[in-house]
Amino acid sequence: MMTSAATPRAEWNRYRGQLEKYFDRTAFDAWKTLTTDAPVSGIRATVRAGRTAMRDMLLAWLPGDMTGLRLLDAGCGTGALAVEAALRGAHVTAIDISAQLVGIARERAPADLNGGRIDWGVGDMLDPALGEFDHVVAMDSLIHYPQADIVATVAALGRRTRRSIEFTFAPRTPALTILHNVGKLLPRADRAPAIIPVAAASLSAALVAALPGWSQPRCERISGGFYTSQALELVRP
Ligand SMILES: C[S@@+](CC[C@H](N)C(=O)[O-])C[C@H]1O[C@@H](n2cnc3c(N)ncnc32)[C@H](O)[C@@H]1O
Repeated sequence: MMTSAATPRAEWNRYRGQLEKYFDRTAFDAWKTLTTDAPVSGIRATVRAGRTAMRDMLLAWLPGDMTGLRLLDAGCGTGALAVEAALRGAHVTAIDISAQLVGIARERAPADLNGGRIDWGVGDMLDPALGEFDHVVAMDSLIHYPQADIVATVAALGRRTRRSIEFTFAPRTPALTILHNVGKLLPRADRAPAIIPVAAASLSAALVAALPGWSQPRCERISGGFYTSQALELVRP
């Protein structure tokens, strides 16, 4: 599990506990539906379209042939990215703190993975017992954590990653900052865990310091309707 100088373990556990409750219970049905082709409202349709575009981009940054490569899908949710990577031949470890979402992911995964393999797990993406990887992807699974936690998490994963890490963050745009502040006005019980906007330049600089020598070749934003997320790729020297 992670600790960081800036955010002590108790704080990290508090964030993670809120997220587990949210994805495993409060938002479980909504996530289950959002991650299918079933009809959804206009707002959710824009989120679905943005998420599909983001997943396609992250997959395009990975090798086309992943035979023999190990990938960690960190915060795999209902497993769409894990399945695509396995179909390219990867040995995927797909981990999420929501047992319910992992259950759906297992059910949805095709029996024939074209030579690839997925080990599904319920737990923390930072569990050292998960082992070492060639590539790590964390799609929208760090957007609810503060910058200090994102940096500490990516640095910890970097110590176990041979080639690249791709993760997304919520870029600090005027629109996301307004949404973040409006969310604070809602009664606590109605709130989804806040998405915490992060300034791209500050995050990038902190990661240069935390992962010396790693390059950051790509940083691309996907934005449309109610979905805004930015992907950063880190490559080991
Ligand atoms: C917005 S969802 C994205 C799921 C998936 N990556 C996707 O794009 O469909 C964020 C996921 O991250 C998971 N998550 C958050 N913190 C985690 C942690 N510390 N370890 C493992 N999973 C975590 C949540 O349970 C949730 O399923």
